[in-house]
Parts: sequence; structure tokens; C-alpha cells
Amino acid sequence: MENNHLILTAFFFNPQGDNRVSWRYPSAAGKEIFDLEYYKKLVLAAEDACIDAIFLADHVGIWDSFPSNIPSYANARLEPITLLAALSAVTKNIGLISTVSASYSLPYNLARSFASLDHLSHGRSGWNVVTSGMDEEARNFGRDASIEHSNRYSRAAEYITLAKELWDSWEDEAILMDKASGIFADKDKVHHLNFEGEFFKVRGPLNVPRPVQGYPVIVQAGGSDDGRNLAAKHADLNFALLRSIKEGQEYREDFNRRLEKFGRPASALKILPGILPIVASSMDEAAEKEALLEKLVPEQVGIDLVSYWVGMDLSGYPIDGPIPALPDEASFNGQRTNLVKVKQYQSEGLTIREVAKLVANVGTAPTIKGTPKQIADQLEEWFTAKAADGFNLMFPTIPEEWMNFMRDVIPELRRRNLVPSQYAPGTLRDRLNLPRPVNQFSK
Ligand SMILES: Cc1cc2nc3c(=O)[nH]c(=O)nc-3n(C[C@H](O)[C@H](O)[C@H](O)COP(=O)(O)O)c2cc1C
Repeated sequence: MENNHLILTAFFFNPQGDNRVSWRYPSAAGKEIFDLEYYKKLVLAAEDACIDAIFLADHVGIWDSFPSNIPSYANARLEPITLLAALSAVTKNIGLISTVSASYSLPYNLARSFASLDHLSHGRSGWNVVTSGMDEEARNFGRDASIEHSNRYSRAAEYITLAKELWDSWEDEAILMDKASGIFADKDKVHHLNFEGEFFKVRGPLNVPRPVQGYPVIVQAGGSDDGRNLAAKHADLNFALLRSIKEGQEYREDFNRRLEKFGRPASALKILPGILPIVASSMDEAAEKEALLEKLVPEQVGIDLVSYWVGMDLSGYPIDGPIPALPDEASFNGQRTNLVKVKQYQSEGLTIREVAKLVANVGTAPTIKGTPKQIADQLEEWFTAKAADGFNLMFPTIPEEWMNFMRDVIPELRRRNLVPSQYAPGTLRDRLNLPRPVNQFSK
């Protein structure tokens, strides 16, 4: 099914925003980021704006390997499923998407958590499957370095297949709770899996009945070849990093080819590029805000980040010179999407200083700045050119830009009939025009 509206998700890369040092911004929140009230206020504002879902990033480790020590420790956060469970109790409609690493968790536990979140939220959960590429994370789970790239993706593919079986291990009508006969569940509708794969061995069934949505909405973020294949086979949403309408159209075509191979229609996967919105009363004011953000990031942080992304220390190279020869992505064990982005900047002739500045401030998502009308114009252009099914809103500062967008840009999008002014009934899947998966065990 086609989308009937521009899908919007509101992202928390960090609790205070999606810039690496958002926490230093003058209006950034302080220690209240560890309190439910902070999130409740933000998420209720997003729900008033009928945002489709909030989306929590997660890493299972602290960034503390940067030589410049500036962004170090700045990714402290609440455990996301716990936070979403609390938010499910104070919201009614908004989708609740969380990242969980398939490399550093186990399918049975994950299937339980998301099935529970889906029941508690009446069908609003979503799982962003990541494979984790930071060595800081690996060292918290008995390893010295990240799992080898293709291995972490084949493990993730098996993980998702198994999680789906676990969610299906209870058919929808399995629970009888017949007090007269004493039969709790129809045993023909509860399935042992006896799953034995390359990575996991699980008997099943799950000890939580099938999620309201069948499965939570499955999300994949990032654009490496392995990542795209995983998404084409399993995901309902892809969070992408794209810089132009043309790139968006090509990315969609590439995905359509991959989806076809797995027998899935193009409409089965929604693509949401990330954007960094900066709302202002004029373009000049937006540029000032952007400049303030840039000023907060020491140059060395950017250089460290690019070095990390490409797996090479760039500090020894002339800062106003070109990016040196970079590793081959096919054998690179870090985050390939990021390596490829830096290679793009390299081919455009950007210097180390220029790339460091870009990467440290906005990552690789485009900044969409200006008045509400100018922002809505740009989003509408992407959407009507079929370069995006919607957007992942990566606010450079939270709460400031989050609240500005909800207050000022949403009414403009509503005037253009691009987003709804009330939630349609049903689950998150229903609202995204995604079918409820058929249970693979039902006859
Ligand atoms: C919008 C977006 C959000 C992401 N969120 C997370 C996250 O929360 N945790 C994480 O470990 N990786 C996250 N990633 C990283 C990707 O899942 C992936 O690891 C990265 O793009 C590199 O993977 P690759 O080597 O397959 O390209 C995110 C990527 C994007 C584009």
C-alpha cells in the first residue's frame, strides 16, 4: 500500500539532540535527561503534532576512545526499552521505536521485551536492528573487537528470523483461559521451535503471547550492501542518510531491485532519510543558529570522528589538504556507510578540515533550515519527487528545535495536507500502511 501521508519520526541520537555536542548548547537540558518528565513533555508535544513515532538510538557502551576527550562520556542515557515502556503509559498513539543491537543481545530476551512493549502500548512498538560497530561496545561483551562485518549481518539475519518465529510461536487464538475445562491455551496453537541455526539454538515457545502487531515494526538504519540486503529481506522501515533528491531516488530504485529479489513489493519498505531541521524566523537567523552549533564543536573532535569513521588517524595529515587514500570498504570492519560517505566527500575534493566540520556538526544528514514555510517546501519537494516516504527528524538541539518544529513546521505541513491532524485508528503498522504479518505456523 502507498503511504497516505509523509511519515515523520522524531529521533533521539542523544537525549539533548543529534549534534555530537548538543548538550553544550545554551538551551540544552541538564540532568533531567535521566528523568521521565523530560521525555514525557517532549513526546506529548510530538503526539499533539501526530508524529508517527519517536525513535531512540542506542549504543551498548560509552564513547571514550576519542583522543580529544571532548565527546567522551557524552552518550550516557537511559536503557531504551525501559524508557519506552514508561512512555507507553503516558501516551496513546505515537509509535515507540528503539534500537537494540543484534550483536550484543539474545533473541529470546529481545522477543519478550518487544512483545511486552507491543502489548503494553497496544501495538505501537518498533525495533531498529543494528549490528554495532564500536569496539567500545565489543569490550563490554567478552570480545576485544567488533564481530567481523559480514558475520555480524548474517548473525542479525538469523536473529530476526528467529525473533519472528518466537513472536509466531503463539497463534493469535492460542489463549483460551477456559476456567470450566481448566485449559489455559490450545496446545495445537502454541509451537515449540526447536530452532538450531549457525548462531542460535532455541526451543521456544516464547512466554509472551503474539504481539498486537504480529511483529513490532522492523527497522534497519544505514546503507551498506549487507545492511540494505538485511532491510530488503526483513525490514518495514529504513533510516537512510541521503544528501539530495537525486540520491534519494537512486536509493529507492536500488531498494526496489533488492525487494523484488525477496518477493516483496516496493511499498513494503518505507525509506526515511534523516534531516537536521533548524527552524527560524528568517534564513539569516537560521544561519546564526547553525553557526553557534558549529562553534561549540572543537575542530579536533571532527578530525577524531572522521578518523574513527575511516579507521585511520588523520591528525598527522595537513588539515587543509585532501583526505588521503582510504581503506577498501569491502574488507572494512567498521561502519561502512560512514566510510562510503567520507569517500564521497573525498571525491568531491573536500579538505580534511571541511569534512571534519561537516561530520562533527551534522554527521552526514542534510541540514534543512529556514522559516517553517521554507522547511515545508523542501520536505514537500523530496516527498513529491518520490525521493523519500517521509523523514527521520534529527534535531540538532532538544528540546529547542524539537519544540520549534512541532509548533511551527507541523501546522505548515498540515495546511498542505502532507501530514494528518489526527491519528488514524489502529496500530503503528496500520498507520504506516504496513500489513500485519501472517503467522507462519497458522494453518
Ligand atoms: C538514522 C540512523 C540511526 C542509527 N542508529 C544507530 C544506533 O542507535 N546504534 C547503532 O549502533 N548504530 C546506529 N546506526 C548505525 C547503523 O545501524 C549502522 O551500523 C551503520 O550505518 C554502519 O553500518 P554498515 O557498516 O552496515 O554501514 C544508525 C544509522 C542511521 C543512519
